[in-house]
Amino acid sequence: MNAWRERWALSPDVTYLNHGSFGASPRVVLEARAKFATELAAEPVDFLVRQAPGRLLAVRERLAALVGAKAGDLILTDNATAGMNLVARSLPLTPGDEVLLCDHEYGAVLRLWRKTCARAGATLNVVKLPWPLASPEQVAQSFAAAISARTRLVVVSHVTSPTALILPVAEVVRVAHAQGIAVAIDGPHALAMLPLDLTGLGADFYTASCHKWLAAPLGTGFLHVAPRWQHCIDPLITSWGGDNARPERQAAG
Ligand SMILES: Cc1ncc(COP(=O)(O)O)c(C=O)c1O
Repeated sequence: MNAWRERWALSPDVTYLNHGSFGASPRVVLEARAKFATELAAEPVDFLVRQAPGRLLAVRERLAALVGAKAGDLILTDNATAGMNLVARSLPLTPGDEVLLCDHEYGAVLRLWRKTCARAGATLNVVKLPWPLASPEQVAQSFAAAISARTRLVVVSHVTSPTALILPVAEVVRVAHAQGIAVAIDGPHALAMLPLDLTGLGADFYTASCHKWLAAPLGTGFLHVAPRWQHCIDPLITSWGGDNARPERQAAG
């Protein structure tokens, strides 16, 4: 058997090309995950209350180094979908506001913003990009032309799902920020495909899944939040989370 194939648990009669939807995990990742599951089963309270918070903070440091971010600007999530839902839940939208995205966005992202805008009485404006695209400039120009006085947010993929384009996100951030408009980047396919410098990019929000091209375990992702937005972030699920990470809470645990 091919040496690379042996590193994966995929069925030998399958040629698996769709890591962009649900990445299969290599054996080494499956084994590490199984080891953690065994540790958890052996002493759930010790694992979850005393061990997990420090380990999650260490993971955040490693991830931050990989994506060019400060660890404190990253929230670990289950996937990019959870990250984008956090943005939709936290961003203050009022009636009459507008959210812009383009016609190359992922279906679930489009549904999320359609629903979020409808709830807030805001408008979702789907910008049609020229096709075929002749230059990266056309993308930023298309967004610039669609921006109005009511635009509050631009949502844009780093690498598009239906059309596999690398969009010029730095240029989109520049154009939107010039008008004081926030940008949320949907980046699950960029992680491990493109070098990332999230602090340098300067977007307001950047979300990705680690279980696609990075081959991390299923159910791993992050949301990067620029410091100016961090006070707005409203967790999707309210529980002990933040408290568990506090040393005095661990001591009391
Ligand atoms: C562009 C894009 N955004 C978001 C997602 C959602 O990713 P996940 O299901 O890991 O949250 C996908 C999934 O393929 C995608 O292609």
